[in-house]
Amino acid sequence: MREELSRIVTQAEEAIAGAQTVETVEELRIRYLGKKGVLTRVLRGMGSLPPAERPLVGKLANEIKVRLEADLAARISVLKEKEKERKLAAEKLDVTLPGTRPFLGSVHPLTAVRTEIEDIFLGLGFQIVEGPEVEHEYYNFEALNFPRDHPARDMQDTFFVSDEVLLRTHTSPVQVRTFEKTAPEVPVKIIAPGKVYREDDDATHSPMFNQIEGFAVDTRITLGDLKGVLHSFVRQLYGEKTRMRFRASFFPFTEPSAEVDISCVICGGHGCRVCSHTGWLEILGAGMIHPRVLEVSGYDTEKVSGFAFGMGIERIAMLKYGVDNIRLFFDNDLRFLQQF
Ligand code: DAH
Repeated sequence: MREELSRIVTQAEEAIAGAQTVETVEELRIRYLGKKGVLTRVLRGMGSLPPAERPLVGKLANEIKVRLEADLAARISVLKEKEKERKLAAEKLDVTLPGTRPFLGSVHPLTAVRTEIEDIFLGLGFQIVEGPEVEHEYYNFEALNFPRDHPARDMQDTFFVSDEVLLRTHTSPVQVRTFEKTAPEVPVKIIAPGKVYREDDDATHSPMFNQIEGFAVDTRITLGDLKGVLHSFVRQLYGEKTRMRFRASFFPFTEPSAEVDISCVICGGHGCRVCSHTGWLEILGAGMIHPRVLEVSGYDTEKVSGFAFGMGIERIAMLKYGVDNIRLFFDNDLRFLQQF
């Protein structure tokens, strides 16, 4: 029986030393020291021993039990220590590695174009003024000399908020709001950038878009001043070689009125798809401010005159960057925006 016991010890200690997890160690404890374990089974055979040997074997069995308990506990603490080290190794952090660069935004193309246009006019002596986007019908239409039955007043183009309040359809009302404050003082040289709203929606029209209005009032302002300012502007924006032409047109708040074309920025005027093979691109509306517009705000048109012009920022940006769908400016798709 002694031999059997010493074989059990050898076996158990080998198994304990080889155990790789705490669970395996617990299984071994049950296998060797449990109520139905190997040791108990062997000790049950003690009855067949001569009575004199029994106490010795009993003592030996106790010693084995104590020894294996110690082995099991030691193995468990080794395994727990190993587990701790493994966790630490997994959490290792190299603080000398270069960090992740934070994402840097860029200026939106419409903001870039707007700023560029503003800078050109600031250089020509204009000041920047802003007006409300929710506007009274008086400023948007009435004071700008739109007849009562003018189609632009129609619900189909204009977003009305109530009977007389609307989302401005253009930046021209800033003319009237400015004149009410400045009249009869001159000179006035203003540009007014901002959002405008129309019920329009296709590849080149969006229900919200941006315009820049420009206007000047002074003694002896002529169509020649308008041409000079605009020519200087288009040459700074599109290059010295840019040509410009006026085509007679109509707006209720200007007389005479013109649509202004520039030589095509893509083909230089030879004719291409972008300019529909005409060599020209329309970029703004302009004219001499209608005397009635000046008079309702308190200017004496015997003494002063003015010019005005208005352009769409999206259109200028589309031509400048070769963008063929206005949606791209408002979708906020980073793949588009990151190109600027
Ligand atoms: N307000 C006009 C529009 O939105 C644009 C315009 C045309 C503005 C002629 C002007 C101008 O100041 O003189 O279509």
